[in-house]
Amino acid sequence: MDHLIIDGGCALNGEINIGGMKNSALPIIFATLLIEEECIIYNVPIVSDVINSVEILKKMGASAEFVDKNTLKINTKSVGNEIRGYDLISKMRASSYLMGAMLARFGEARLPMPGGCNFGVRPIEQHLKGFSLLGADTNEENDFIEIKASKKLKSAKIVLDKISVGATINIVLASIFTEGVTVIENVAIEPHVDDLICFLNIAGAKIIRVGRKIYSEGVNKLHSVQYKIFPDMIESLTYMTFVGACTGDINLTGINFEHIRYVTSLFSKMGFQIDSFYDEVRVKVKKKPLGISVETEPYPYFPTDLHPQFASLLCFTTNGGIIKENIFPTRFAYVNELIKMGANIKNINNSVYIYPSALQGACLDATDLRAGAGLVCAALGTEGKSRINNVNYIVRGYENLVGKVSSIGGKIKLIKGDN
Ligand code: UD1
Repeated sequence: MDHLIIDGGCALNGEINIGGMKNSALPIIFATLLIEEECIIYNVPIVSDVINSVEILKKMGASAEFVDKNTLKINTKSVGNEIRGYDLISKMRASSYLMGAMLARFGEARLPMPGGCNFGVRPIEQHLKGFSLLGADTNEENDFIEIKASKKLKSAKIVLDKISVGATINIVLASIFTEGVTVIENVAIEPHVDDLICFLNIAGAKIIRVGRKIYSEGVNKLHSVQYKIFPDMIESLTYMTFVGACTGDINLTGINFEHIRYVTSLFSKMGFQIDSFYDEVRVKVKKKPLGISVETEPYPYFPTDLHPQFASLLCFTTNGGIIKENIFPTRFAYVNELIKMGANIKNINNSVYIYPSALQGACLDATDLRAGAGLVCAALGTEGKSRINNVNYIVRGYENLVGKVSSIGGKIKLIKGDN
């Protein structure tokens, strides 16, 4: 089993270039189904979820290749209405975007229930509510989901009962070729939603987001596009947790500071020195940070995708803190791994209580993508060697993690195989 060996306890110093946002690359790749012409997408992170999404579209008949590092050329003209690549679909939550994209292009979609990270039930009734209001019938049976419109989709007013990134994206995709203007209320406003909207608009869609409302005026056709994906805010915030656990002075380049303004203001309260300049941010941590308590909420507030990394960071603070998880209330599998390192941490209901802890190196199992990143944070901040198994989870979302951490002085190696 491929694993990471980390010899922690070193301060981190140097520069890291932040890649494109995985969470927008995935919907944008599936959105190319709506454009039956060539698309060139820049700043595509080379992570396994991206590779698998491209692979699914190739199995369905698309031509796709990386023409340069991080530049994807893709044309879905030859794709037929049959979804293929079931094995990959059931591993990946983002394959749910096939529902909206295929419904818009072919008026139907039949696929296995999309898989994803291991932190509990991830319902899709808001996605299905949107499709129904646009005029499609939906049916879930034997772990398969079928969506079918007997005639052209019609525009509608859709009020989401819950803020959902996935439902917002799927309904936007499904609305592109409807007659009239679809209005979606109570939408997610994560940068990945705006990234997709920018991509679609450059391809000819007519979408405006005003606060938590999206207006999408149907068009007849989308056209060829060249587009650069936004920087990955979670990747940049993850590296900030690493420097917080280890102390040091790092410069992150290629970022959009607006996307991380709220969370970096929390890091500042913890004693991080943060200076942003155009698309760079310099992060200095000279001594043990002060702990604070946070709760996860939809953007622009504290992201659920930073919860496990932040939990590890809190172990290295002077006073610890509490994290309340409001998005995925069972996202706590990492807690037992931190306990193996000697962490003083308790999960009660949907909160985790973290006290300052003297951690020791240990053999750990990554249980999902961000939990894996959290363990990397804990291991980097801890003197001595740690081993992290299940690297496959971590490579789903962090491009060249080992190279990037090494370049700022972290002692980390990827070991292929069991030894
Ligand atoms: C969520 C995160 C997103 C993150 C992604 C990957 C939020 C709001 N969303 O997006 O930022 O990048 O995970 O980890 O932080 N829900 C329903 N019914 C639905 C859809 C969702 O009850 O039909 C609930 C979910 O269970 C969850 C919440 O709504 O509690 C938000 O879910 P959603 O945003 O759809 O999840 P993802 O799209 O996976």
